[in-house]
Amino acid sequence: MTSDTIHKAVMTGEAMDALKPHPGGIYIDATLGGGTHTAELLERSGPEGRVMSLDVDPVALARARERSKEYGGRWKIVESNFRDIAKVAKENGFGQADGVLIDLGLSSDELVDPAKGLSFQVPGPLDMRLGPRANESGLTAAEIVNSWRQEEIEKILREFGEEKMARKIAEAIVRFRKTQRIVTTIDLSELISSTVPRYYDRGRIHPATRTFQALRIAVNDELGALQSALDGATSVLKYGGVLCVISFHSLEDRIAKNFIRANNELEALTKKPQAPSAQEIKENPRSRSAKLRAAKKVKDGEPKNTNKYVKLIRNIDDQTA
Ligand SMILES: C[S@@+](CC[C@H](N)C(=O)[O-])C[C@H]1O[C@@H](n2cnc3c(N)ncnc32)[C@H](O)[C@@H]1O
Repeated sequence: MTSDTIHKAVMTGEAMDALKPHPGGIYIDATLGGGTHTAELLERSGPEGRVMSLDVDPVALARARERSKEYGGRWKIVESNFRDIAKVAKENGFGQADGVLIDLGLSSDELVDPAKGLSFQVPGPLDMRLGPRANESGLTAAEIVNSWRQEEIEKILREFGEEKMARKIAEAIVRFRKTQRIVTTIDLSELISSTVPRYYDRGRIHPATRTFQALRIAVNDELGALQSALDGATSVLKYGGVLCVISFHSLEDRIAKNFIRANNELEALTKKPQAPSAQEIKENPRSRSAKLRAAKKVKDGEPKNTNKYVKLIRNIDDQTA
């Protein structure tokens, strides 16, 4: 028996408004997590629609499998990296989907799981893989901090963590490991706290936040996996089907935005990313950085419906006239 999820899904209403799941439809939830989005898709596509849910986290998958009987053959749960979505969808009869949802990042269940070593507040080994299929090489955060060159560590802290103190932290890591390996989450978070100046971030976030984010992105190759997932998801959508992406930091949102813009088969349904409502942010502060983008698959060369943007611009003009 697995424990219940503590994860609160983000922007469920907005995601369903974009995907418009209908009875008999075929949907893929590329990031099962706590299963709230999947449950909505199952509910709204019933009684005959089908849903396939992917995840790399064995704990999330086991929790879902315990509940899967109530849906009979309508719910397919697969342990897979979403970078392989096209292959897995075709193998399981989901090669023509009405909608694909990708809700990025990690769940609250994963964050507090000591074995995964994702939180600077939860003691655990410095691993950070979300599951065995999170990467192919077996790379862990401990390997990065204990064996990568200082410049390589600095680069990922700067690029994936947008960490202003990247050089100082990378230097401290390399200095520390000359005498002792960095083994646990607490080893690393204490090392960072003792390295950055006291005023840093003025208490808004823990000084280790950005380093932990950067290492997690590197270990799970999150940006590379997202790029492949967007390609794969678009290829398995029917014409008229909808791709919906919820991201939590600017690097992911930029990839989703550029992918939708550059793809001749996608018509953006959200010109600007949608944000959670003030009410949702109040009830679930973790949602505050969420951004949702959606796009519809259209035939290549079909004129894209830009009327809504023209209308939007006109409204703005009316107000300023
Ligand atoms: C924010 S949670 C999803 C929450 C979910 N939408 C819900 O309703 O509870 C993100 C999930 O994506 C999974 N994940 C992250 N990277 C993945 C990848 N490359 N392939 C498949 N799943 C991934 C994580 O393990 C985590 O369970």
